[in-house]
Amino acid sequence: MRIAAERGDITEQHVDAVVNAANSTLLGGGGVDGAIHRSGGREILDSCRELRAGDYPDGLPVGAAVATTAGRLPAHWVIHTVGPVYSSAEDRSNSLASCHGEALRVADSLGARSVAFPAISTGVYGYPVEEAAEIAVRTVRTADSAVETVRFVLFDERTRELFAAEIGQD
Ligand code: APR
Repeated sequence: MRIAAERGDITEQHVDAVVNAANSTLLGGGGVDGAIHRSGGREILDSCRELRAGDYPDGLPVGAAVATTAGRLPAHWVIHTVGPVYSSAEDRSNSLASCHGEALRVADSLGARSVAFPAISTGVYGYPVEEAAEIAVRTVRTADSAVETVRFVLFDERTRELFAAEIGQD
């Protein structure tokens, strides 16, 4: 598995699947979630609504992942996952690790061979980037997955540097 950290916009990635930093409602939000729905178009929301009406009546649990169409995005699928809100009182690293492991498991079920991740939970959900980068890269690197390429797509240079350092990228 090739793993890289790049500056960029998750909505512009030409990969099989992009991972969305969603919330449990699956009905959109700001940040990555807002960008994916805005760029991907209504098909994505319609597909999310079907999930809510079907397998996920109470929403998507933290740490779980589910795929929908990618609508107008260059990717084929969006894999929605719900990161943990950071807590200084409670260790939620397993939930953040689960977002990455479950996203790769869903990618495998789709036959996706290239996956782009944002820095899940490090925006609105307040997870310190240093900790999130270590959890994300370790989980991806140790996953038993057929995915060949994982790209962390990061919105700012500091976050990119931290992920690149975890990967051992220069
Ligand atoms: N491409 C790549 N990265 C992005 C983009 C983008 N278009 N937009 C934002 N980011 C970065 C942020 O700078 C942050 O580093 O993605 C990281 C995750 O930030 P959020 O999108 O806020 O995600 P998260 O912290 O997981 O919070 C999820 O925010 O948008 C709502 O509906 C969402 O309730 C959910 C919560």
